[in-house]
Amino acid sequence: MADGPNSIAAKMGAWFSAMSLQLLSRFFEKRETVAHLSPKDRIKKYGYRSFIGGQNPERWYSIGRLQYFFLVSQGLDHSHSFLDLGCGALRLGQYLIPYLDENKYFGLEPEKLLVECGLFHEIDEKIVAIKKPRFAHNYDFNVEPLHEFDYAMANSIFTHMTQSDITRCFQRLLDKTNQNTKFFFTFFEGDSSTNQWVESHANRGWHYSFEELESFAHGWNLKYIGDWGHPNDQKIVEANPIN
Ligand SMILES: C[S@@+](CC[C@H](N)C(=O)[O-])C[C@H]1O[C@@H](n2cnc3c(N)ncnc32)[C@H](O)[C@@H]1O
Repeated sequence: MADGPNSIAAKMGAWFSAMSLQLLSRFFEKRETVAHLSPKDRIKKYGYRSFIGGQNPERWYSIGRLQYFFLVSQGLDHSHSFLDLGCGALRLGQYLIPYLDENKYFGLEPEKLLVECGLFHEIDEKIVAIKKPRFAHNYDFNVEPLHEFDYAMANSIFTHMTQSDITRCFQRLLDKTNQNTKFFFTFFEGDSSTNQWVESHANRGWHYSFEELESFAHGWNLKYIGDWGHPNDQKIVEANPIN
């Protein structure tokens, strides 16, 4: 009797389900509204950290530190030339720019406003004056002023990209490598048939298998590393140019 459809427990269960559905649909509605704003409007309205997905300070700093310690553990030295692909508002740059020698940090970030916010809020201007980090702002993976890079990191970049953009990225970066280049990138491991959108977008997620990524990376050899402690379970891969 206590378990019948009119019991208090059953009514509360139904109420909780209805509430959860409502909250869930509000969450997706808001996400879609945000996704339709231009990147600049999203940065202005919600803030630069939020645009990157680091609104919570602990998350902001921990993902920056995670990348920094990972790179150092993989042999990154202060004298290496480094490319931060999709550097955003310098979540990694705030640690790497002070660490690397002068002129060795290069950030590619299409949204210039993010870099301006990072330089203003996240890093001491005296360090910037001494280390002279360089930046490029485009969606074409054009890192032209950069001669070549020893190390690169693309954290949470291919997680937001179509197959054709990832393929183009590998093609364009190949010209800037040397025989020891190590390019680390993260991805959401999964079934690409669930990818719903046709254009790359910072607020939407794409999944790929490791084998698919290998097939996009012409001229590169990929090594699966996998878990590295990323809070969103993004896996990491090392790519090396085939010499
Ligand atoms: C989720 S954020 C990650 C930022 C940074 N890597 C970090 O860990 O904080 C994705 C970044 O990729 C940038 N982005 C989007 N399309 C890009 C492209 N074609 N080339 C380089 N960066 C791109 C976005 O503007 C955004 O700053």
